[in-house]
Amino acid sequence: MQLIAAVDNNWAIGFQNSLLVRIPRDQQMFREMTEGKVIVVGRKTFETFPQKQPLKNRVNIILSRDQKYKVKGAEVVHSMDELLEALKNYDNRDVFVAGGAGVYEQLLPYCDTAHITKIDYTYQADAYCPRLDTMADWHCTAESEEQTYFDIEYYFQKYERKK
Ligand SMILES: NC(=O)c1ccc[n+]([C@@H]2O[C@H](COP(=O)([O-])OP(=O)(O)OC[C@H]3O[C@@H](n4cnc5c(N)ncnc54)[C@H](OP(=O)(O)O)[C@@H]3O)[C@@H](O)[C@H]2O)c1
Repeated sequence: MQLIAAVDNNWAIGFQNSLLVRIPRDQQMFREMTEGKVIVVGRKTFETFPQKQPLKNRVNIILSRDQKYKVKGAEVVHSMDELLEALKNYDNRDVFVAGGAGVYEQLLPYCDTAHITKIDYTYQADAYCPRLDTMADWHCTAESEEQTYFDIEYYFQKYERKK
């Protein structure tokens, strides 16, 4: 599986159930990377999507413990076991773990690659991605040139689990 996240200097990902910032090129990169593939999101992240609708042109799998939670056009699973069972239908490399915090944490052991948009700013935040830059078994294997969006500087980084 691959993890995909936009993080700030403290590896924060969100505040009050919203993204910290919307950067069009980052959103484009997310779309290009995940279209035709499978995204796995927590119920709270799903509810931040436009009109609370599944993202188009990809399989949306939502984690929720609520057995009654249903979303047209998305698959809802209720536990990690149920998720892993559902994912047997897909190529592991096509599965993108797209947050939020608890979902990143729980699925990190199954990921071998992470696509991190690293934003050089510190936001007020209440949700975080695991800090791959301090984990002995992960390393950054690629980094883009500096990108800018108005006064925000950011980088596209690739992290890989060490072999
Ligand atoms: N910067 C980024 O790249 C990025 C990406 C994604 C999200 N975000 C941000 O992250 C924040 C949301 O993250 P969050 O951590 O608060 O919530 P979340 O991970 O999106 O959703 C949490 C919910 O997922 C369900 N869930 C989690 N683990 C489960 C399990 N093992 N079995 C069944 N259901 C499970 C539960 O839903 P129920 O309550 O329905 O049971 C839980 O309340 C927002 O601020 C969002 O904007 C940022």
